[in-house]
Amino acid sequence: MAVKKLEEGIYEVGAVDWDRELFDELIPLPDGTSYNAYLVVGDDKIALLDTVDPTKVSVLMDNLNSLDIDHLDYVISHHAEQDHSGSIPAILEKYPMAKVVTNPKCKGMLEEHLHIPEEKFIEVEDGEEIYLGDITLRFVYTPWVHWPETMCTYLPEMNIIFTCDLFGSHLATSDLFVRDKEKTYLAAKRYYAEIMMPFRRLIKGHLQKLDGLEVDIIATSHGPIYDEPGFIIDAYKDWTSDKVKDEVVVPYVSMHGSTEDMVEHLVDHLMNKGTKVTPYNLTTTDLGDLAMSLVDAATVIIGTPTVLTGPHPKALYAAYLANALRPKTKFVSLIGSYGWGGRMPQMIQETLKNLNAEMLEPVVIKGHPSESDLKKIERLADEIIAKHEKSDLVH
Ligand code: FEO
Repeated sequence: MAVKKLEEGIYEVGAVDWDRELFDELIPLPDGTSYNAYLVVGDDKIALLDTVDPTKVSVLMDNLNSLDIDHLDYVISHHAEQDHSGSIPAILEKYPMAKVVTNPKCKGMLEEHLHIPEEKFIEVEDGEEIYLGDITLRFVYTPWVHWPETMCTYLPEMNIIFTCDLFGSHLATSDLFVRDKEKTYLAAKRYYAEIMMPFRRLIKGHLQKLDGLEVDIIATSHGPIYDEPGFIIDAYKDWTSDKVKDEVVVPYVSMHGSTEDMVEHLVDHLMNKGTKVTPYNLTTTDLGDLAMSLVDAATVIIGTPTVLTGPHPKALYAAYLANALRPKTKFVSLIGSYGWGGRMPQMIQETLKNLNAEMLEPVVIKGHPSESDLKKIERLADEIIAKHEKSDLVH
């Protein structure tokens, strides 16, 4: 339990989850996470902004007790996902006079997910304000980060914006504000890659909307708070821009060494020509690292052998993940081998169909690569380099 004061009347009352290793039973959390919730105490009314994951509800309650909070007027819900909303029912039980303030879409989701009765809600529109006396809460709709109902709250008197998931990082730390910039940058990039990247174009619009606000503090609901907002705003502008970097990512898996030899040859050839390239052995790689690499790489080459009649399942999984995350990749292809036949190339290509990327001619060979097969790999590497050089979007 620990209450941290941001400003006079503004407290962080959420919980650090040092031990959580997985989110959504999918995303590895190498640095844990936090569920930040904020108490805003005006001279007339008191609001709680989001709650915590239900596993940490006792921490939230202890924090509120330590501040002698005997009533709440409002619980602001920015996002219906349970790591922020899941303790609202417990809060309403403890503070029965409190109303849940949110947008109509989030209200519907909270009714369905948490069975909160309709009479507990106050609906607010984009730009609407409520007043706690000396402090104003202005609601700013920012849908699809990463659910359709997401919104932020802006405090114009203090230039603080509470953004919930947006700009967050899965980073457990005792620091209230960002103090380890390098670690936070990587955690925020990993978080963006895994959660926000599919909504890149919408987030670009939200960044423009937020540009119109004077902001000194960005208080997210995961990870440390930004007291230098430019640090994370600039990073998001970079990640969401249409530009990609002169980089090649090669997620691969190999059973008997043929695909691995092809990948090694591709990697060596690109390295020798000065192109940044990173192979990810899908047997051992952290999927978060792979997702991060997709944020800015110009090209993705999937390497896979043929299992029965299709790709190796680990390669198909990586292709499925890349397709779901919708990175701004400009060029894709695949390399790999087969024993007697199959539909491996078609299945990988079909799985990548959401990517708005040019498909380069795959190199798929029978058996172990021969000298002429390796020459085909070199030609693919040269084509990648030429494509990068020609594209206005690669820098
Ligand atoms: Fe942190 Fe989308 O919940």
